[in-house]
Amino acid sequence: MVGVSLEGEKVILVPYMKEHVPKYHQWMQDPFLLETTASEPLTLEQEYQMHLSWCQDPLKKTFIVLDKDLVEGTFVHGDPHVEAMVGDVNIYMNDLDNLELAEVEIMIAEPKSRGKGLAKDAVLMMMAYAVENFGIHVFRAKIGESNGASLRLFQKLGFEDISYSEIFKEAVDSL
Ligand SMILES: CC(C)(COP(=O)(O)OP(=O)(O)OC[C@H]1O[C@@H](n2cnc3c(N)ncnc32)[C@H](O)[C@@H]1OP(=O)(O)O)[C@@H](O)C(=O)NCCC(=O)NCCS
Repeated sequence: MVGVSLEGEKVILVPYMKEHVPKYHQWMQDPFLLETTASEPLTLEQEYQMHLSWCQDPLKKTFIVLDKDLVEGTFVHGDPHVEAMVGDVNIYMNDLDNLELAEVEIMIAEPKSRGKGLAKDAVLMMMAYAVENFGIHVFRAKIGESNGASLRLFQKLGFEDISYSEIFKEAVDSL
């Protein structure tokens, strides 16, 4: 069964299908993408296993981001449109004390599709989807201090910057 697809102004979010895995795996050989997404390199076999676990985990939701400019012909729901896949966006309800909170992650892996507003479009669509379908009210993003592009993206989307040292300080102060 194929899940929903969501069409925005610049992107179409489609379910992560097994046809997407080889290209996804290829992206995740890039040291820059591994570092900025805090990921470990996987074999192709492990990437297929990861795909299955993401699809089955009720606390995770992943979409592949299609760049609408790259879709060949007409978009067909259920077709993976690998030619237009440029990244992924996901949420993870990983705070068991607060199921209204989700961590949001975005990657626009294809350099030619960066700087076109695709990440902004995809994150906003994912957040609206999470509010409507999972009752999420708080979003968190974990971003490396040196990742200026991502920091600016999330600041632009209204996220407040809380550094880990500040969180740690609060915890110490309240002891
Ligand atoms: C960060 C990333 C997702 C941005 O994707 P993108 O599609 O190029 O971003 P957008 O075009 O939607 O940009 C939205 C805003 O983000 C900021 N931004 C994006 N790229 C930027 C860059 N290279 N330098 C400075 N600001 C940048 C800008 O404020 C921009 O708004 P503006 O164009 O109105 O000024 C992309 O560079 C990426 O995937 N990087 C590698 C993986 C990663 O870092 N993921 C995030 C992990 S937390």
